[in-house]
Amino acid sequence: MSLFLVDPARCRGDGICVDECPTRIIELKSGDPTPCVPAEAEEFCRNCGHCVAVCPHGAASITGMAPEQLPRLRSDWRPGPEQITHFLRARRSIRTYTPQTVEREVLAKLIDVARFAPSASNRQAVRWVVIYDAAEVHRLAGLTVDWMRAGLTSQTAAARRNTLRFIAGWESGLDMVCRGAPHLAIACAPASHPWAVTDCAIALTYLELAAPSFGLGACWGGILTGAARQWPPLQDALALPEGHVVCGAMMIGFPRYRYYRLPLRNEAQVTWRG
Ligand SMILES: Cc1cc2nc3c(=O)[nH]c(=O)nc-3n(C[C@H](O)[C@H](O)[C@H](O)COP(=O)(O)O)c2cc1C
Repeated sequence: MSLFLVDPARCRGDGICVDECPTRIIELKSGDPTPCVPAEAEEFCRNCGHCVAVCPHGAASITGMAPEQLPRLRSDWRPGPEQITHFLRARRSIRTYTPQTVEREVLAKLIDVARFAPSASNRQAVRWVVIYDAAEVHRLAGLTVDWMRAGLTSQTAAARRNTLRFIAGWESGLDMVCRGAPHLAIACAPASHPWAVTDCAIALTYLELAAPSFGLGACWGGILTGAARQWPPLQDALALPEGHVVCGAMMIGFPRYRYYRLPLRNEAQVTWRG
C-alpha cells in the first residue's frame, strides 16, 4: 500500500500539500489532477502528517493518519499575544511541594502533552523514565549528593563553597537537589541521536509549561542530570533503556505556594543585521 493516498473525489489539485511537505516529496504532475509520492521517495517521508493536516478538503492521508483520525484545530481557542506573554512569563520553577502524590494518570497525561513537542526530523526519539515513588526520588537525590562529595577535590574554591552548601543542606535534612518533589520525570534519548539533548530539552519544556494546567508545579533537575551523566551509582539506579543517555529531568508535584507577581528578567540582547 502506498504511504501517501489522495481521495480524488475530494482533492482540488491546489498543491497546498506539495508546498507544505517538509521534504518536498509530494508531486503534482501536469495533466494529473491528484498529487502523489513516487515510490522511490517514500523513504524520505517524516510521517509528520502536515499534508493531511493542511488539506482543507480532507483529501490526503498517510499510513496511520487519515483526516478523520486527526482532531480538528480549534482556532477559537488560540490565545492572543498578551495571554501567551503572560502565560510564558508566569511559568515558574517550583521548589517547594506538598507531600501529596500526583495520580499516575495525571502524570501520564502531562507526559502525553510533551509528545507533541517538535523533534529534529520528527524523529520523536524522547523516552521517559518516571520515578514515581517519593522515597526513590529522595534516594536519587542522596546519590547525587554522593557525586557532589566525590567531586569536591577537583572544584574551584568558589564552586566548592557552593557544593558544600548543598551537602550541608542535605546533611541537615534539606534536599536542594530534588527539592523534596514527590516525582521525577527523566527524559532520555538514544546516544546515537545527534539532537538527543535538544529534543529532550524541548519535550521537558513542554512538560514544564503544561504542568500548571494540571494544578502541578515543576522544576528542572539540572544537578541530578549532571550527576546522572557521570556517576555510575546513579546511572545504575536510573536503569535507563539500553543505549539511551539522560538528557534532562523534571521534578513534579503540587506546589506549596502560589506566586503573585512576575519577576523581571534581563533585556533581550539582540544584534539586528540587514
Ligand atoms: C537546564 C536547566 C537546569 C536547571 N537545574 C535546576 C536545578 O538543578 N535545581 C533548581 O532548583 N533549579 C534548576 N533550574 C531552574 C533555574 O534555576 C530557573 O529556571 C531560574 O532560576 C529562573 O527561575 P524561573 O524558572 O522561575 O523563571 C534549571 C533550569 C534549567 C533551564
